[in-house]
Amino acid sequence: MNETAITRCKQFREIVQQGLGNGASAAMFLAKRDDRKGKSMARRWINDLSIADATPYAAYINRRQIMAGAAGLIGATALGLGRANAQALVPNSWEEITSYNNYYEFGTGKEDPANNAGSLTTSPWTVEVDGLVDNPGTYDLAELIDGLEVEERVYRFRCVEAWSMVIPWNGIELADILTRVGVQEGANYVAFETVMRPDEMPGLHYPVLDWPYREGLRLDEAMHPLTIMATGIYGRPIPNQNGAPIRLVVPWKYGFKSIKSISRITLTRDEPFASWNRANPREYGFYSNVNPEVDHPRWSQATERRVGAGLFAGRQPTLMFNGYEAEVASLYEGMDLAAYY
Ligand code: MTE
Repeated sequence: MNETAITRCKQFREIVQQGLGNGASAAMFLAKRDDRKGKSMARRWINDLSIADATPYAAYINRRQIMAGAAGLIGATALGLGRANAQALVPNSWEEITSYNNYYEFGTGKEDPANNAGSLTTSPWTVEVDGLVDNPGTYDLAELIDGLEVEERVYRFRCVEAWSMVIPWNGIELADILTRVGVQEGANYVAFETVMRPDEMPGLHYPVLDWPYREGLRLDEAMHPLTIMATGIYGRPIPNQNGAPIRLVVPWKYGFKSIKSISRITLTRDEPFASWNRANPREYGFYSNVNPEVDHPRWSQATERRVGAGLFAGRQPTLMFNGYEAEVASLYEGMDLAAYY
């Protein structure tokens, strides 16, 4: 390795160590990741953020984050990871992201969550962690995520209803939280539950789903560096209608997998209950990976409408795994994606 490459690797290691924030060596960090179950990638995700992402909310993106993103790219190149992830994704506006929502606990209309979710008390907030974990318990949210790195991730977001946005999330890798609570041998899946408070969530009075809203991931999907628990958008605390105070974001899956306002995380041996899958298994699979080649029984998934693109903008092609194929396709090697939709 030449001198420049060594310097770049050092820079990368420093970035990783800063991310750990506990003085542990990068080698330990990478080894720990490799030890984890499944095929997680032994590196942190390289931020998509670039100067081209400037928006009216650019003020919230400080110089440090932009510099960290740029340094990360240098490190990634040195490690031969390429620049496949460095795209100029232009995020939707704050107004679009926070006024056009799906959160059925607050009503089934797209504007209902923005109008009704103000009633949800999000502080204090506890998350029950149970099942196959070393440290089960009811955690105060602040305690659960204390000291873990919050990163900005500009991700494509594709709803199964065939609309899409680009959202600049702030969040923590789910893998960091799971590592903190200690995943036990025998755990194959992670189950999530949304808080159920009929007094604060008017939609719960209607049997739209078998409440509480529940979702699940295979453990290797949960440990993947792209999978985050979001606590913010545009550097602001995540609004109630988007899933305050903490929600899952799995960018290569249809949006309904990204469960909001999480109050319980359970490590399980068997595939857990997932609300939409259970409500209509023919229309909504457990995996629900974005796939333009596998249509919903009632509509095509080949294209999507970008929210905010304007009346005359055409539909855009939907990308395999929502554009994250290079990062996640290996998780599904050998699987028939038409059967496991
Ligand atoms: N989580 C809960 N608890 N309840 C919901 O109704 N809707 C899902 C998902 N998470 C939903 C949920 C669906 S269908 C989508 S598309 C996304 O949230 C929408 O996220 P957004 O409103 O932040 O865009």
